[in-house]
Amino acid sequence: MIEVEGLTKQFGSHLAVDGLSFAAEKGEVVGFLGPNGAGKTTTMRILTCYFPATRGKATVAGFDCFEDALEVRRRVGYLPENVPLYRDMAVDGYLKFVAGIKGVERRDVAKQVSRVMGECGLDEVSRKLIGTLSKGYRQRVGLAQALVNDPEVLILDEPTNGLDPRQIQEIRKLIKQLAGQRTVILSTHILPEVSMVCGRVIIVNKGHLVAVDTPENLTAQMQRSSKLVLRIAGDGDQIEPALRRLEGVKEVVREEQVVDGVHGFVVDLDEGGEVRGRLAPLIVEQGWNLVEMRPLAASLEDVFIQLVMREDAA
Ligand SMILES: Nc1ncnc2c1ncn2[C@@H]1O[C@H](COP(=O)(O)OP(=O)(O)OP(=O)(O)O)[C@@H](O)[C@H]1O
Ligand SMILES: [Mg+2]
Repeated sequence: MIEVEGLTKQFGSHLAVDGLSFAAEKGEVVGFLGPNGAGKTTTMRILTCYFPATRGKATVAGFDCFEDALEVRRRVGYLPENVPLYRDMAVDGYLKFVAGIKGVERRDVAKQVSRVMGECGLDEVSRKLIGTLSKGYRQRVGLAQALVNDPEVLILDEPTNGLDPRQIQEIRKLIKQLAGQRTVILSTHILPEVSMVCGRVIIVNKGHLVAVDTPENLTAQMQRSSKLVLRIAGDGDQIEPALRRLEGVKEVVREEQVVDGVHGFVVDLDEGGEVRGRLAPLIVEQGWNLVEMRPLAASLEDVFIQLVMREDAA
């Protein structure tokens, strides 16, 4: 549904997007991650025909974003970083107005507007002025305007930015419901959001692709370079150096808090090292008590930071 190949956008001498390639299939919800300035908004703007790429190709439903901009616009709904909502228009009036701009047939306008108001939970505020709505509801209006031409592709630039936790949950739920047959690309800085909403993640840094995979695969990759969480009852001042001396242990971080004589440690292990097998005998030998031993699950945040840091170091 979306194909991006060697996409490059240059502002003056600055490469905002640098040879980016990825694809998204029909019905996929893809998360777009990257630090500030990575080129997410720029890529989305090219996909929505806001401006052309300097080089490379972007197509939506087989139509070129530059050459067939009209066809692309017809199929894409866009929620920009800052939605230009008309604060002194009523919700329904505004949506009718947008429907007109987007080329919805006049006889279909009322039907489409009532559909999106239902989908976005706006029925009870349809007559209110946009400027009087809460931020969460304004964001719903933003989503509704993106959906009013019933697009196959939804491009959402930080859709939950600035919302309170309850509104964030509601908007996420709404996005999942809206997905269905549509292809959705959404950018966010909230990493757990990606795991909750997206089937696949694209990580970009400085305009180019760093990783693309399912959130599960990305975090599983990290788990191989494993960290162990240990809780051991005994003398913490003895346990810590003993852990450090174990072969295959790279680093030991000791928790400050001690509960009922139980010390917590996070042990960073060499890849493939069989440290666990050597741990148990050590603990028994010293007369300590192993209360807990579990792998520290990598979060998407760990993956993101590792990948982006590795890039920045290179
Ligand atoms: N119209 C423009 N003119 C000049 N430079 C621009 C323009 N738009 C974006 N840039 C630059 O391109 C780079 C990428 O910006 P972009 O907005 O795409 O990043 P982003 O990934 O969306 O970041 P954020 O997470 O902060 O929203 C930045 O360095 C930005 O300053
Ligand atoms: Mg942005």
